[in-house]
Order: sequence, then structure tokens, then C-alpha cells
Amino acid sequence: MPFLKLIVGNWKMNGLTADSRDRAIKIASSIKENKTYPFHIILCPPTTMLSLVAEELKGSSIGLGGQNCHNQPSGAFTGEISAEMLKDVGCTHVIIGHSERRQQNRETSASVATKAKAAHLAGLVTIICVGELDGERTSGQADEVVTGQLKDSIPTTTTPENTVIAYEPVWAIGTGKTASNDDIRHIHALIRKEVGKLPILYGGSVKASNAGEILHLPNVDGVLVGGASLKAEEFMEIAEASGR
Ligand code: 13P
Repeated sequence: MPFLKLIVGNWKMNGLTADSRDRAIKIASSIKENKTYPFHIILCPPTTMLSLVAEELKGSSIGLGGQNCHNQPSGAFTGEISAEMLKDVGCTHVIIGHSERRQQNRETSASVATKAKAAHLAGLVTIICVGELDGERTSGQADEVVTGQLKDSIPTTTTPENTVIAYEPVWAIGTGKTASNDDIRHIHALIRKEVGKLPILYGGSVKASNAGEILHLPNVDGVLVGGASLKAEEFMEIAEASGR
């Protein structure tokens, strides 16, 4: 079977019952049974919407992901969610080390690695995020930052089946600024050298108008979409762009 482009929607902290249900139904109903697609979709709603979205996705080939998990399976960790809990509610994937968590929750690459290991042990596929800050890029440190994050964030439990890397330059997230094709080519080639066969996603202001170009760059195995994943039609246009 040829490799399918991975199209991951990260809803971030967006979604109440009505709009989450509506979006999940629209996306699920646009995937027809008995038709083959050049992409595989994974939706990552906020934790409170996982059960509801899981219900709407039942019987479809669409995967479900959490946006974070703890490194322990259970215990006295008020407010936290374990990888086992995500698996239990129907998740197939979990995003780990998103730059918003690295910055806002002070997650380090070392803690990302322990979370990823816990997720692997729970049977989830991890989407491990890396990416440089604006200042790190302008001071010429992007390669070094990304390589360092990869080395420290990827646990020994990693295999090409249970891990996906997402390159998300922080300055391109939610800003409307996308990395240039040359930048994406360069960093994805660098990541490929580090991670071998692991699939590599690009994220950062991906939208319907730029997805086709990005998805066809070398070493781009899919996209991680934030803002544009909240609009079902645009998100499906992004997915369809993998086949064009
Ligand atoms: P945007 O697509 O809104 O730039 O967000 C990217 C992102 O952070 C996905 O995880």
C-alpha cells in the first residue's frame, strides 16, 4: 500500500458540543466507504470533546488524537490526563511537545520524551512536535535547535509505526506566515537524516491555498493544521490537496 499523507487537525482549545459535533459529522461524512483516498485524517479535539467526536467517527477510517498526556498511567495528578485514558476513550494518536505547551507550560524535551514513552506503552501513536522560535531562526540557530529537540524528545520506545514528527516553526503558527518551500525542504531533509523512516509533518499556517504545494515537497509526509482545521470544508480541501 502506498504511504498515505497524514492530515492532522489540532483544534487546540476550541470546541463546545454543538460545533464539535457538527465539524466531526461534516468531516466523517465526506469520507465515503469503499473509496480509497491518498490521505489519512486524524482529528485532535480538546479532551472534553473526545468521547463525542469518537462517537461521530465510529465506523470511519478517521483517527482520533489527544493534544497532550501525562507520563504516568494514573495517580495523584490533579487535572492531568494519561495516555491510557486517551486510549480508553478511543484515541489512536496523541500530540506531544506542541510549541504552545513547550512555551506556556514549560515542557522540556526531556519531559516530552517521558510522555512519548508512556504513550507508546499505552499503544498510542505519538506526534512529537519540534520547531524553532523566531529569534532562533534569525540568529541562524534553527538547525541546531531542531536537531537538539529531536535528540532529546524521542524516546527509546520509538518505531516508524508508533511515532510521527511534526516540524512547526513557532513563528509560523497562527501568524499567517508559512515557512518558504526552501526552508521546509531544508529542515525536513535535516529531520529525515536524524529520524530515518519516521513520517514528518509540516505545521504552521497551513491552509487550502498552500497545502497542495507543501504536501508535495520532499520529506513532507503530511500536515498538522491548527486554525484551518476548525472549518470542515477548508480542512477537507487541505486533505484533498494531497492527491492533486
Ligand atoms: P496554525 O495552523 O493555526 O498556524 O497552527 C498550527 C499548529 O500549531 C498546529 O498544531
